[in-house]
Amino acid sequence: MKPFRAIAAMSENRVIGANNGIPWHIPDDFRWFKECTENQIVVLGRKTYDSLKKKPLPRRENWVLTHRDLFMFNPDPLIRTFRSLEKLEQTAEGQNNKQIWICGGAEIYKQYLPRCRDLFLTKIKRTVTGDRFFPEFENIFTEKKVLKETDEFKIVWYVNSAPKRITQDLIEASFPKDQENIEEKTIEQLAFSFFNI
Ligand SMILES: NC(=O)c1ccc[n+]([C@@H]2O[C@H](COP(=O)([O-])OP(=O)(O)OC[C@H]3O[C@@H](n4cnc5c(N)ncnc54)[C@H](OP(=O)(O)O)[C@@H]3O)[C@@H](O)[C@H]2O)c1
Repeated sequence: MKPFRAIAAMSENRVIGANNGIPWHIPDDFRWFKECTENQIVVLGRKTYDSLKKKPLPRRENWVLTHRDLFMFNPDPLIRTFRSLEKLEQTAEGQNNKQIWICGGAEIYKQYLPRCRDLFLTKIKRTVTGDRFFPEFENIFTEKKVLKETDEFKIVWYVNSAPKRITQDLIEASFPKDQENIEEKTIEQLAFSFFNI
């Protein structure tokens, strides 16, 4: 089973969205998102996809979950649509060279978080008014490392620590230990080189 990663930003009161948009503007965090996901695959709910100012997200494969027939008359090579999580997972199995990033919104995080090996969560240090919230994740993820902290936000890397029977066997089958170490270095290098520019 291919390991997925989730990336998100939430306020102190767990808000992630308002009026189908993101209710803050933190350029450093947008750049972090871009740095992580460029040249990879981003998985988006249809409402989040609709909310993008520039779409599809450039230099990324945009996998959009929807029950609708979108893009039928306007196909774009960067976009694929999926009607179910199962279909998306089947297609993901063939993607050996690309990371799959679960990028929201709230409905998608809720369904996919238990399936993700890593969560990169930007914690915005304020309370915000909104209508979409990040789901409970504390029961399945444990903090691995703080990658960056400023007065405005903190980026925390969490790993899925759900009971072995649910994920660990599957993760180890597809991610041998030494590869996991390489992955860890890569994340740290990414954070280090990005935030020290
Ligand atoms: N702060 C952050 O990190 C962050 C990140 C991303 C998004 N957001 C915010 O989150 C909000 C949007 O979240 P949302 O919960 O309203 O919507 P969403 O999760 O982006 O999209 C929901 C839509 O996805 C489709 N969908 C969901 N589950 C599906 C499944 N199993 N199979 C097929 N299609 C499925 C449906 O589309 P159809 O109706 O077309 O069938 C559904 O209406 C916005 O405010 C956005 O800005 C915040």
